[in-house]
Amino acid sequence: MAYASETDAARALASRVVAAIAQKPELVLALPTGRTPLPLYRELVRLHQERQVSFAKVHTFNLDEFRGLAPDDPGSFRAYMERHFFSKVDVQPERIHFLSGQAEDAGEECERYEGELAQVGGIDLAILGIGSNGHIAFNEPAEKLLPRTHLTKLSRETREANAGLFGGDAVRVPLEAYTMGMETILGAREVALMATGAKKAEILARALEAEITERVPASLLQRHPCLSVYADEAAAAKLKRAR
Ligand code: PGA
Repeated sequence: MAYASETDAARALASRVVAAIAQKPELVLALPTGRTPLPLYRELVRLHQERQVSFAKVHTFNLDEFRGLAPDDPGSFRAYMERHFFSKVDVQPERIHFLSGQAEDAGEECERYEGELAQVGGIDLAILGIGSNGHIAFNEPAEKLLPRTHLTKLSRETREANAGLFGGDAVRVPLEAYTMGMETILGAREVALMATGAKKAEILARALEAEITERVPASLLQRHPCLSVYADEAAAAKLKRAR
């Protein structure tokens, strides 16, 4: 669905999140970072301040995290989430699930994350952004995607897109990151894809209306039975079908 502005898209998705929590207070959310979800977090914080929603029983699982960074490193996704969301709502610390950038054994860390997710019954609602190369979380375009949570190398394009967290210096962006796999994400009962701004128009159309290929990881979302798209008009401009 195309909304007039990114604020309108964020408001619509925030309403969906509030409704889902009203129905199931212990909702399991998968959450993204980046520029796109900022208006969503602002709106959810506002709704919480107005007592329209409580996150007290919600479980959150972030999609990804840089390898090598401590949770309080300002460049980490954990620090981003604290800044923009966790510190401003009533989500309980023991219900915040995060991949640890400092884990000693990468394989064990990925298993731990998948295990925690399984223990709470899997993802109810996965909220996603889309990279301009078609990545979802840190599932970069590949010949063969790894289906479950794994450690991955970041493309140059993705490191440049994340430079903002590192004083604008792409060289400081870690070379590797942990990410949920596409199968982990597609296991969610509901998926909400956010895309805003003209820079996402081309890739959004390729993801939603062209062939399904691991070269465009976001195109795999076409297979999900319960996918909603929250795009502004600029990002939806190249879609042939109205949404
Ligand atoms: P962005 O990043 O929201 O900052 O554009 C999206 C992504 O790369 O997944």
